[in-house]
Amino acid sequence: MTDALTTWGGWAPAIRDDPFGHFAQARARCPVQRVRLADGHQAWVVLGYHAARQALGDSRISKDMLAALHEAGDVVAEGLPGPEFSRHMLNVDPPDHTRLRRLVSRAFTPRRIAALEPAVRGIADSLLDDLDEAGPDGIVDLVERYAYPLPFQVIGELLGIPAADRPRLHAWFAVLLSGWAGDPPPEAVKASDGIVTCLSELVQAKRRSPAGDLVSVLTAAAEGDALTDQELLSSLFQLVVAGHDTTASLIGNGIVALLDYPAQLQALLHDPGLVPAAIDELIRFSAPVPHATFRVTTEPVTLGAVTIPAREQVLVCLGAANRDPDRFPAPDVLELRRGDGPHLGFGHGIHYCLGAPLARLEARVAFEELLGRHPGLRLAADRDDLAWAHGDGLVLRGLTSLPVVLGPRRDEPPTDRTSNPRRHR
Ligand code: HEM
Repeated sequence: MTDALTTWGGWAPAIRDDPFGHFAQARARCPVQRVRLADGHQAWVVLGYHAARQALGDSRISKDMLAALHEAGDVVAEGLPGPEFSRHMLNVDPPDHTRLRRLVSRAFTPRRIAALEPAVRGIADSLLDDLDEAGPDGIVDLVERYAYPLPFQVIGELLGIPAADRPRLHAWFAVLLSGWAGDPPPEAVKASDGIVTCLSELVQAKRRSPAGDLVSVLTAAAEGDALTDQELLSSLFQLVVAGHDTTASLIGNGIVALLDYPAQLQALLHDPGLVPAAIDELIRFSAPVPHATFRVTTEPVTLGAVTIPAREQVLVCLGAANRDPDRFPAPDVLELRRGDGPHLGFGHGIHYCLGAPLARLEARVAFEELLGRHPGLRLAADRDDLAWAHGDGLVLRGLTSLPVVLGPRRDEPPTDRTSNPRRHR
Protein backbone atom coordinates (compact mmCIF):
# COMPACT_ATOMS: atom_id res chain seq x y z
CA MET A 1 0.00 0.00 0.00
CA THR A 2 2.81 2.42 -0.86
CA ASP A 3 0.38 4.97 -2.27
CA ALA A 4 -0.80 5.83 1.25
CA LEU A 5 2.67 7.10 2.15
CA THR A 6 3.23 10.76 2.95
CA THR A 7 5.62 12.50 0.56
CA TRP A 8 8.61 14.00 2.36
CA GLY A 9 10.55 16.90 0.79
CA GLY A 10 10.05 18.66 -2.54
CA TRP A 11 7.36 20.71 -0.79
CA ALA A 12 5.33 23.58 -2.15
CA PRO A 13 6.70 26.99 -1.05
CA ALA A 14 4.14 27.40 1.76
CA ILE A 15 5.34 24.23 3.52
CA ARG A 16 9.00 24.71 2.58
CA ASP A 17 9.00 28.22 4.10
CA ASP A 18 7.16 27.22 7.28
CA PRO A 19 7.31 23.44 7.66
CA PHE A 20 6.52 23.21 11.38
CA GLY A 21 2.76 22.69 11.09
CA HIS A 22 3.39 19.94 8.57
CA PHE A 23 5.99 18.33 10.86
CA ALA A 24 3.58 18.49 13.82
CA GLN A 25 0.75 16.82 11.90
CA ALA A 26 3.03 14.03 10.71
CA ARG A 27 4.52 13.55 14.22
CA ALA A 28 1.02 13.36 15.73
CA ARG A 29 0.09 10.62 13.21
CA CYS A 30 3.21 8.61 14.05
CA PRO A 31 6.61 9.69 15.42
CA VAL A 32 8.41 7.13 13.22
CA GLN A 33 6.95 6.43 9.78
CA ARG A 34 7.78 5.28 6.28
CA VAL A 35 7.57 8.09 3.71
CA ARG A 36 8.12 8.61 0.02
CA LEU A 37 10.92 11.05 -0.83
CA ALA A 38 10.55 13.62 -3.60
CA ASP A 39 12.76 11.46 -5.90
CA GLY A 40 10.41 8.48 -5.45
CA HIS A 41 12.64 6.49 -3.08
CA GLN A 42 11.22 5.38 0.26
CA ALA A 43 12.73 6.16 3.64
CA TRP A 44 11.78 6.29 7.32
CA VAL A 45 11.36 9.68 8.89
CA VAL A 46 11.83 10.05 12.67
CA LEU A 47 9.88 12.96 14.14
CA GLY A 48 9.53 12.41 17.91
CA TYR A 49 12.28 13.79 20.19
CA HIS A 50 12.98 10.57 22.08
CA ALA A 51 12.98 8.36 18.98
CA ALA A 52 15.19 10.90 17.16
CA ARG A 53 17.74 10.97 19.98
CA GLN A 54 17.76 7.19 20.08
CA ALA A 55 18.20 6.92 16.30
CA LEU A 56 21.12 9.39 16.27
CA GLY A 57 22.89 7.45 19.02
CA ASP A 58 22.29 3.92 17.67
CA SER A 59 25.38 2.24 16.16
CA ARG A 60 23.16 -0.11 14.14
CA ILE A 61 22.14 2.90 12.07
CA SER A 62 25.08 3.61 9.79
CA LYS A 63 26.28 6.83 8.17
CA ASP A 64 28.06 4.98 5.36
CA MET A 65 25.28 5.39 2.80
CA LEU A 66 27.52 4.73 -0.19
CA ALA A 67 28.57 1.32 1.10
CA ALA A 68 25.01 0.39 2.00
CA LEU A 69 23.58 1.44 -1.34
CA HIS A 70 26.31 -0.29 -3.33
CA GLU A 71 25.75 -3.44 -1.28
CA ALA A 72 22.03 -3.30 -2.04
CA GLY A 73 22.84 -2.91 -5.75
CA ASP A 74 21.04 0.43 -5.69
CA VAL A 75 21.96 3.17 -8.14
CA VAL A 76 23.88 5.80 -6.24
CA ALA A 77 23.16 9.37 -7.24
CA GLU A 78 26.66 10.80 -7.02
CA GLY A 79 25.80 14.48 -7.06
CA LEU A 80 28.41 17.20 -7.20
CA PRO A 81 31.35 17.38 -6.76
CA GLY A 82 31.25 13.60 -6.90
CA PRO A 83 32.50 10.65 -4.87
CA GLU A 84 36.06 12.00 -4.71
CA PHE A 85 34.68 14.55 -2.25
CA SER A 86 32.35 12.38 -0.22
CA ARG A 87 34.77 10.53 2.08
CA HIS A 88 34.54 12.73 5.17
CA MET A 89 33.62 12.07 8.81
CA LEU A 90 29.90 12.62 8.31
CA ASN A 91 29.76 9.84 5.71
CA VAL A 92 31.61 7.08 7.57
CA ASP A 93 31.34 4.87 10.65
CA PRO A 94 34.01 3.97 13.23
CA PRO A 95 36.89 3.29 13.04
CA ASP A 96 37.29 5.68 10.06
CA HIS A 97 34.98 8.18 11.71
CA THR A 98 37.05 8.19 14.89
CA ARG A 99 40.28 8.79 12.97
CA LEU A 100 38.92 11.54 10.71
CA ARG A 101 37.11 13.34 13.52
CA ARG A 102 40.11 13.18 15.85
CA LEU A 103 42.35 14.90 13.32
CA VAL A 104 39.94 17.72 12.55
CA SER A 105 39.09 18.11 16.26
CA ARG A 106 42.54 19.56 16.82
CA ALA A 107 41.31 22.83 15.34
CA PHE A 108 38.15 22.87 17.46
CA THR A 109 39.45 22.74 21.01
CA PRO A 110 37.75 25.24 23.35
CA ARG A 111 41.05 27.17 23.63
CA ARG A 112 41.45 27.50 19.86
CA ILE A 113 37.84 28.53 19.38
CA ALA A 114 38.00 31.11 22.18
CA ALA A 115 41.17 32.53 20.62
CA LEU A 116 39.22 33.21 17.42
CA GLU A 117 36.85 35.68 19.09
CA PRO A 118 38.80 38.89 18.32
CA ALA A 119 39.12 37.87 14.66
CA VAL A 120 35.38 37.02 14.43
CA ARG A 121 34.49 40.34 16.05
CA GLY A 122 36.79 42.19 13.65
CA ILE A 123 35.08 40.55 10.65
CA ALA A 124 31.60 41.36 12.01
CA ASP A 125 32.60 44.96 12.71
CA SER A 126 34.02 45.55 9.27
CA LEU A 127 30.93 44.03 7.57
CA LEU A 128 28.70 46.31 9.67
CA ASP A 129 30.87 49.33 8.81
CA ASP A 130 30.20 48.57 5.14
CA LEU A 131 26.46 48.28 5.80
CA ASP A 132 26.43 51.62 7.60
CA GLU A 133 27.23 53.27 4.30
CA ALA A 134 23.58 52.66 3.34
CA GLY A 135 22.62 55.14 6.09
CA PRO A 136 20.06 54.56 8.87
CA ASP A 137 17.10 54.58 6.45
CA GLY A 138 18.73 52.56 3.68
CA ILE A 139 17.64 49.00 2.96
CA VAL A 140 20.30 46.31 3.19
CA ASP A 141 20.16 42.58 2.52
CA LEU A 142 21.35 41.11 5.79
CA VAL A 143 21.70 37.59 4.37
CA GLU A 144 23.90 38.62 1.47
CA ARG A 145 26.01 41.19 3.31
CA TYR A 146 26.27 39.87 6.87
CA ALA A 147 24.87 36.42 7.63
CA TYR A 148 26.79 34.68 4.82
CA PRO A 149 30.07 36.59 4.57
CA LEU A 150 30.72 36.38 8.32
CA PRO A 151 30.93 32.58 8.70
CA PHE A 152 32.48 32.18 5.25
CA GLN A 153 35.34 34.49 6.18
CA VAL A 154 35.76 32.72 9.53
CA ILE A 155 35.99 29.26 7.96
CA GLY A 156 38.35 30.77 5.38
CA GLU A 157 40.61 31.97 8.21
CA LEU A 158 40.42 28.67 10.02
CA LEU A 159 41.31 26.63 6.94
CA GLY A 160 43.92 29.11 5.68
CA ILE A 161 42.15 29.89 2.38
CA PRO A 162 43.90 32.94 0.87
CA ALA A 163 41.72 36.07 1.10
CA ALA A 164 41.97 36.57 -2.68
CA ASP A 165 40.36 33.15 -3.34
CA ARG A 166 37.43 33.59 -0.95
CA PRO A 167 35.00 35.67 -3.07
CA ARG A 168 34.98 33.27 -6.04
CA LEU A 169 34.93 30.23 -3.76
CA HIS A 170 31.99 31.72 -1.90
CA ALA A 171 30.15 32.38 -5.19
CA TRP A 172 30.75 28.80 -6.36
CA PHE A 173 29.48 27.32 -3.10
CA ALA A 174 26.37 29.50 -3.34
CA VAL A 175 25.62 28.01 -6.78
CA LEU A 176 26.31 24.47 -5.63
CA LEU A 177 24.08 24.76 -2.56
CA SER A 178 21.18 26.43 -4.37
CA GLY A 179 19.80 23.07 -5.49
CA TRP A 180 18.15 21.95 -8.73
CA ALA A 181 15.85 19.25 -10.02
CA GLY A 182 17.29 16.51 -12.28
CA ASP A 183 20.71 16.82 -13.93
CA PRO A 184 22.98 19.57 -12.62
CA PRO A 185 22.86 22.76 -14.73
CA PRO A 186 26.09 23.91 -16.48
CA GLU A 187 26.73 26.66 -13.91
CA ALA A 188 26.69 24.04 -11.12
CA VAL A 189 29.19 21.87 -13.00
CA LYS A 190 31.40 24.93 -13.51
CA ALA A 191 31.12 25.86 -9.82
CA SER A 192 31.95 22.32 -8.79
CA ASP A 193 35.02 22.23 -11.07
CA GLY A 194 36.14 25.57 -9.67
CA ILE A 195 35.86 24.34 -6.08
CA VAL A 196 37.74 21.12 -6.85
CA THR A 197 40.60 23.01 -8.50
CA CYS A 198 40.75 25.67 -5.81
CA LEU A 199 40.79 23.23 -2.86
CA SER A 200 43.30 20.93 -4.61
CA GLU A 201 45.63 23.90 -5.20
CA LEU A 202 45.21 24.94 -1.58
CA VAL A 203 46.36 21.49 -0.42
CA GLN A 204 49.39 21.61 -2.72
CA ALA A 205 50.30 25.10 -1.51
CA LYS A 206 50.10 24.04 2.16
CA ARG A 207 52.22 20.98 1.45
CA ARG A 208 54.88 23.26 -0.01
CA SER A 209 54.73 25.85 2.78
CA PRO A 210 52.74 24.81 5.86
CA ALA A 211 51.36 27.44 8.24
CA GLY A 212 49.33 27.31 11.45
CA ASP A 213 45.96 26.68 9.75
CA LEU A 214 43.79 23.57 9.66
CA VAL A 215 44.66 22.60 6.08
CA SER A 216 48.34 22.55 7.06
CA VAL A 217 47.56 20.38 10.09
CA LEU A 218 45.56 17.92 7.95
CA THR A 219 48.14 17.93 5.18
CA ALA A 220 50.91 17.05 7.59
CA ALA A 221 48.79 14.20 8.93
CA ALA A 222 48.20 12.97 5.38
CA GLU A 223 51.94 12.65 4.83
CA GLY A 224 52.05 10.36 7.85
CA ASP A 225 49.41 8.26 6.02
CA ALA A 226 46.62 9.21 8.43
CA LEU A 227 44.44 10.77 5.73
CA THR A 228 44.20 9.70 2.10
CA ASP A 229 44.05 12.46 -0.52
CA GLN A 230 40.38 11.65 -1.04
CA GLU A 231 39.67 11.96 2.68
CA LEU A 232 41.59 15.22 2.86
CA LEU A 233 39.74 16.92 -0.01
CA SER A 234 36.41 15.53 1.19
CA SER A 235 37.03 16.87 4.69
CA LEU A 236 37.87 20.33 3.39
CA PHE A 237 34.77 20.37 1.22
CA GLN A 238 32.56 19.27 4.10
CA LEU A 239 34.08 21.78 6.51
CA VAL A 240 33.43 24.67 4.15
CA VAL A 241 29.81 23.59 3.58
CA ALA A 242 29.07 22.71 7.22
CA GLY A 243 31.04 25.71 8.42
CA HIS A 244 29.19 28.52 6.70
CA ASP A 245 25.74 27.72 5.32
CA THR A 246 24.40 26.44 8.64
CA THR A 247 25.60 29.40 10.69
CA ALA A 248 24.46 31.88 8.02
CA SER A 249 20.97 30.37 8.22
CA LEU A 250 21.00 30.57 12.01
CA ILE A 251 21.81 34.30 11.87
CA GLY A 252 19.15 35.08 9.23
CA ASN A 253 16.43 32.80 10.63
CA GLY A 254 17.27 34.00 14.15
CA ILE A 255 16.81 37.68 13.29
CA VAL A 256 13.42 36.95 11.73
CA ALA A 257 12.34 34.94 14.78
CA LEU A 258 13.37 37.80 17.09
CA LEU A 259 11.47 40.33 14.97
CA ASP A 260 8.44 38.01 15.14
CA TYR A 261 8.68 38.11 18.95
CA PRO A 262 9.34 41.77 19.84
CA ALA A 263 9.11 41.19 23.62
CA GLN A 264 11.83 38.54 23.35
CA LEU A 265 13.96 40.88 21.27
CA GLN A 266 13.55 43.61 23.89
CA ALA A 267 14.55 41.16 26.64
CA LEU A 268 17.70 40.37 24.67
CA LEU A 269 18.51 44.04 24.10
CA HIS A 270 18.17 44.76 27.80
CA ASP A 271 20.17 41.75 28.91
CA PRO A 272 23.05 40.92 26.53
CA GLY A 273 24.01 38.12 28.96
CA LEU A 274 21.00 36.28 27.55
CA VAL A 275 22.64 35.90 24.11
CA PRO A 276 24.20 32.42 24.61
CA ALA A 277 20.88 30.93 25.80
CA ALA A 278 19.09 32.79 23.02
CA ILE A 279 21.29 31.16 20.40
CA ASP A 280 20.36 27.66 21.49
CA GLU A 281 16.69 28.56 21.63
CA LEU A 282 16.92 30.08 18.14
CA ILE A 283 18.51 26.87 16.84
CA ARG A 284 15.74 24.81 18.45
CA PHE A 285 13.00 27.10 17.20
CA SER A 286 14.15 28.17 13.73
CA ALA A 287 15.76 24.91 12.54
CA PRO A 288 18.71 26.05 10.37
CA VAL A 289 19.36 22.31 9.88
CA PRO A 290 15.86 20.78 9.83
CA HIS A 291 16.99 17.19 9.15
CA ALA A 292 20.14 15.27 9.96
CA THR A 293 21.88 13.70 6.96
CA PHE A 294 20.65 10.33 5.66
CA ARG A 295 21.41 7.17 7.56
CA VAL A 296 20.78 3.46 6.85
CA THR A 297 19.87 0.57 9.17
CA THR A 298 22.36 -2.31 9.16
CA GLU A 299 19.90 -4.56 11.02
CA PRO A 300 16.29 -4.18 12.26
CA VAL A 301 16.06 -1.32 14.77
CA THR A 302 13.10 -0.62 17.06
CA LEU A 303 12.43 3.05 17.80
CA GLY A 304 9.54 3.45 20.25
CA ALA A 305 6.75 1.23 18.94
CA VAL A 306 8.08 0.96 15.38
CA THR A 307 10.63 -1.49 14.00
CA ILE A 308 12.56 -0.33 10.95
CA PRO A 309 13.82 -3.30 8.91
CA ALA A 310 17.48 -3.69 7.90
CA ARG A 311 18.91 -1.72 4.93
CA GLU A 312 16.31 1.03 5.06
CA GLN A 313 17.13 4.72 4.78
CA VAL A 314 16.47 6.84 7.87
CA LEU A 315 15.95 10.60 7.97
CA VAL A 316 15.87 12.19 11.42
CA CYS A 317 13.73 15.35 11.40
CA LEU A 318 15.48 17.60 13.93
CA GLY A 319 12.99 20.39 13.30
CA ALA A 320 10.10 18.15 14.36
CA ALA A 321 11.96 16.57 17.30
CA ASN A 322 12.88 20.00 18.65
CA ARG A 323 9.23 21.00 18.72
CA ASP A 324 7.92 17.77 20.24
CA PRO A 325 5.41 18.70 22.99
CA ASP A 326 6.43 15.51 24.86
CA ARG A 327 9.82 17.13 25.38
CA PHE A 328 9.39 20.93 25.22
CA PRO A 329 6.42 22.69 26.86
CA ALA A 330 4.72 25.11 24.41
CA PRO A 331 7.21 24.06 21.72
CA ASP A 332 5.96 26.45 19.04
CA VAL A 333 6.73 29.52 21.13
CA LEU A 334 10.12 31.26 21.10
CA GLU A 335 11.18 31.55 24.75
CA LEU A 336 14.78 32.68 25.14
CA ARG A 337 14.84 31.88 28.87
CA ARG A 338 13.24 28.45 28.51
CA GLY A 339 16.27 26.50 29.80
CA ASP A 340 14.67 23.15 28.96
CA GLY A 341 17.93 21.33 28.40
CA PRO A 342 19.49 20.10 25.21
CA HIS A 343 17.81 20.33 21.83
CA LEU A 344 18.87 18.18 18.88
CA GLY A 345 19.72 21.06 16.53
CA PHE A 346 23.41 20.09 16.55
CA GLY A 347 22.58 16.39 16.30
CA HIS A 348 23.46 13.78 18.92
CA GLY A 349 25.84 10.84 19.35
CA ILE A 350 29.19 10.37 17.65
CA HIS A 351 28.29 12.71 14.76
CA TYR A 352 27.28 15.55 17.11
CA CYS A 353 28.27 18.78 15.38
CA LEU A 354 32.03 19.21 15.69
CA GLY A 355 31.67 22.90 14.90
CA ALA A 356 29.05 23.64 17.59
CA PRO A 357 31.44 25.74 19.75
CA LEU A 358 32.49 27.72 16.69
CA ALA A 359 28.88 28.18 15.53
CA ARG A 360 27.91 29.40 19.01
CA LEU A 361 30.81 31.84 19.06
CA GLU A 362 30.06 33.20 15.59
CA ALA A 363 26.34 33.57 16.28
CA ARG A 364 26.97 35.23 19.64
CA VAL A 365 29.33 37.77 18.11
CA ALA A 366 27.02 38.30 15.11
CA PHE A 367 24.00 39.07 17.32
CA GLU A 368 25.96 41.11 19.86
CA GLU A 369 27.55 43.33 17.21
CA LEU A 370 24.46 43.73 15.03
CA LEU A 371 21.90 44.36 17.78
CA GLY A 372 24.38 46.32 19.88
CA ARG A 373 24.87 48.72 16.99
CA HIS A 374 21.35 48.76 15.52
CA PRO A 375 18.78 47.95 18.23
CA GLY A 376 15.97 49.44 16.12
CA LEU A 377 16.55 47.11 13.16
CA ARG A 378 13.31 46.26 11.31
CA LEU A 379 12.11 44.26 8.33
CA ALA A 380 11.98 46.11 5.00
CA ALA A 381 9.71 43.54 3.32
CA ASP A 382 6.36 41.99 3.95
CA ARG A 383 6.91 39.15 6.44
CA ASP A 384 5.00 36.74 4.17
CA ASP A 385 7.20 37.58 1.19
CA LEU A 386 10.36 36.23 2.84
CA ALA A 387 11.43 33.01 1.12
CA TRP A 388 13.28 30.14 2.70
CA ALA A 389 14.80 28.17 -0.13
CA HIS A 390 17.60 25.70 0.04
CA GLY A 391 18.03 22.90 -2.39
CA ASP A 392 15.64 20.15 -1.39
CA GLY A 393 14.89 21.98 1.88
CA LEU A 394 15.70 18.85 3.87
CA VAL A 395 19.13 19.41 5.36
CA LEU A 396 19.38 23.21 5.17
CA ARG A 397 16.74 25.85 5.83
CA GLY A 398 17.71 29.46 5.30
CA LEU A 399 16.53 32.69 3.74
CA THR A 400 17.55 33.67 0.22
CA SER A 401 17.55 37.31 1.26
CA LEU A 402 16.59 39.38 4.28
CA PRO A 403 15.91 43.05 3.49
CA VAL A 404 16.06 45.20 6.63
CA VAL A 405 16.31 48.83 7.63
CA LEU A 406 19.10 49.02 10.17
CA GLY A 407 17.93 52.24 11.83
CA PRO A 408 20.26 54.63 13.67
CA ARG A 409 23.38 53.39 15.39
CA ARG A 410 23.08 53.11 19.16
CA ASP A 411 26.20 55.25 19.60
CA GLU A 412 24.94 57.98 17.24
CA PRO A 413 22.58 60.83 18.13
CA PRO A 414 19.11 60.28 16.62
CA THR A 415 18.84 61.60 13.08
CA ASP A 416 17.62 65.16 13.01
CA ARG A 417 15.37 64.88 9.98
CA THR A 418 14.72 68.64 9.74
CA SER A 419 18.42 69.36 9.28
CA ASN A 420 18.99 66.83 6.50
CA PRO A 421 17.25 67.93 3.31
CA ARG A 422 18.12 64.72 1.46
CA ARG A 423 15.89 62.67 3.80
CA HIS A 424 12.80 64.72 2.83
CA ARG A 425 12.69 63.56 -0.71
C1 HEM B 1 24.22 26.82 13.55
C2 HEM B 1 25.18 26.19 12.97
C3 HEM B 1 25.26 24.70 12.82
C4 HEM B 1 24.31 23.74 12.95
C5 HEM B 1 22.82 23.93 13.30
C6 HEM B 1 24.94 22.46 12.71
C7 HEM B 1 24.29 21.24 12.76
C8 HEM B 1 24.91 20.03 12.61
C9 HEM B 1 24.25 18.76 12.71
C10 HEM B 1 22.77 18.56 12.97
C11 HEM B 1 25.18 17.80 12.52
C12 HEM B 1 24.95 16.27 12.59
C13 HEM B 1 24.43 15.77 11.27
C14 HEM B 1 24.06 14.31 11.29
O1 HEM B 1 24.22 13.63 12.33
O2 HEM B 1 23.62 13.82 10.24
C15 HEM B 1 26.44 18.45 12.28
C16 HEM B 1 27.63 17.79 12.04
C17 HEM B 1 28.81 18.44 11.76
N1 HEM B 1 29.03 19.79 11.76
FE1 HEM B 1 27.69 21.24 12.20
N2 HEM B 1 26.26 22.67 12.43
C18 HEM B 1 26.52 24.02 12.50
C19 HEM B 1 27.72 24.66 12.31
C20 HEM B 1 28.92 24.04 12.04
C21 HEM B 1 30.18 24.70 11.89
C22 HEM B 1 30.43 26.20 12.05
C23 HEM B 1 31.09 23.75 11.61
C24 HEM B 1 32.57 23.93 11.41
C25 HEM B 1 33.27 24.09 10.53
C26 HEM B 1 30.41 22.47 11.58
C27 HEM B 1 30.99 21.25 11.34
C28 HEM B 1 30.34 20.03 11.46
C29 HEM B 1 31.01 18.76 11.24
C30 HEM B 1 32.48 18.56 10.89
C31 HEM B 1 30.04 17.76 11.44
C32 HEM B 1 30.25 16.25 11.31
C33 HEM B 1 30.56 15.65 12.65
C34 HEM B 1 30.74 14.15 12.59
O3 HEM B 1 30.32 13.50 11.60
O4 HEM B 1 31.32 13.59 13.53
N3 HEM B 1 29.08 22.68 11.85
N4 HEM B 1 26.27 19.80 12.34
